[in-house]
Amino acid sequence: MGTGLILGIESSCDETAASVVRDGQCVLSNIVASQVELHGNYGGVVPELASREHLRNILPVVRQAMQEANVTYADLDAIAVTEGPGLAGALLVGITFAKSLAFGLDKPLIGVNHLEGHIHAVVMQGEGNREKEELPLLALVVSGGHTHLYLASHDEQSWHYRNVGRTVDDAAGEAYDKVAKLLGLGYPGGPWMDALAAHGNPRAVTFNFGQITPRPGAVTPNKKAIAERTGPVFDFSFSGIKTAVLRYVETHAMKPSIGIRHAALAASPDLRPAGAASLCDQQTLDLIASFQYAVVGNLMRQSFAAAEAFGVRSILVSGGVAANRELRQRFTAEAEKRGLTVAFPSLALSTDNAAMIAAAAWPRFLSGQISDDSLVATPQLKL
Ligand code: KG4
Ligand code: ZN
Repeated sequence: MGTGLILGIESSCDETAASVVRDGQCVLSNIVASQVELHGNYGGVVPELASREHLRNILPVVRQAMQEANVTYADLDAIAVTEGPGLAGALLVGITFAKSLAFGLDKPLIGVNHLEGHIHAVVMQGEGNREKEELPLLALVVSGGHTHLYLASHDEQSWHYRNVGRTVDDAAGEAYDKVAKLLGLGYPGGPWMDALAAHGNPRAVTFNFGQITPRPGAVTPNKKAIAERTGPVFDFSFSGIKTAVLRYVETHAMKPSIGIRHAALAASPDLRPAGAASLCDQQTLDLIASFQYAVVGNLMRQSFAAAEAFGVRSILVSGGVAANRELRQRFTAEAEKRGLTVAFPSLALSTDNAAMIAAAAWPRFLSGQISDDSLVATPQLKL
């Protein structure tokens, strides 16, 4: 009999994370060392710096995760690590560390797809384990690097995923970050835009973008995507709205709110980022609210159209953008109206973490899907 304990390690982007999870469900520790401050100075993630920072952080982060969980290395059943997608150099740090640890301890190593991890951040909280007749469910993964829709189901052995939608250009979180940068709000912009949007008028500006009609068959401008997939697809596009915001700012000669972030942080740590609203002019707040209204509306339109097309009863929404308050409220209200259920991870498990990696590894461990010595970093890994 094993202990059910898996140590998860995640280093695909700008967070070094380690977590111990029991039975794929019970989080005993969840340590995340964020590099946000470092990359914030450059307005986005600098891959070379991210790799170096992972190398600096990985050992202390793993040590802390083991200490907080109060377990010994000998207690572990397996070590799980993000294998991709992500930044090559960043992934290599986590994988090399996990491989060496598994080798030294003579424990099984399990490579996990980061996107499967995000989905399991919801599954591990009891969602997704619906009765068989309720499967498949729809999983929307919406983050800084990804906007994907999957039909997901599972049998005794493992989970299966079929991609039924993805962004043909920018990810939704990427649009958030680019617009925030444009408005002078710094990186990453999502949490700041979320807080500021609440103080603006979402009807002030109408953005029409990403109008990829959800019709069975040829519904995406991406020819390659059509060739690869069969059946209806519900793709996304977020680069148009970023350009529309830029045009709006130019046309109305708006000045970027440079310094707002620092001023809000300096005023009081408790103020951030909500307190920044008093430092922004109303036109900026209205633009942010209108942008968010359009992005969330677009995510909803494609997701609910897909749910209807596939006769799905429940939707799991995960990834950094799933932390967004308006997104949670509107998805929940629409699902209620349609008699569907929608589930999100806790806020802590919405953005990148290692608990979701350990959780996604659990069914693989139970069914003996162990990685061998050939495990490598796969930056473009598909789910
Ligand atoms: O899942 P995540 O931590 O990393 C990736 O896998 O990409 O997601 C980070 C992304 C960033 O683009 C960030 O701006 C966005 O999630 N984000 C948000 C919010 N919190 C984080 N976007 C909108 N509203 C939020 N509250
Ligand atoms: Zn992620």
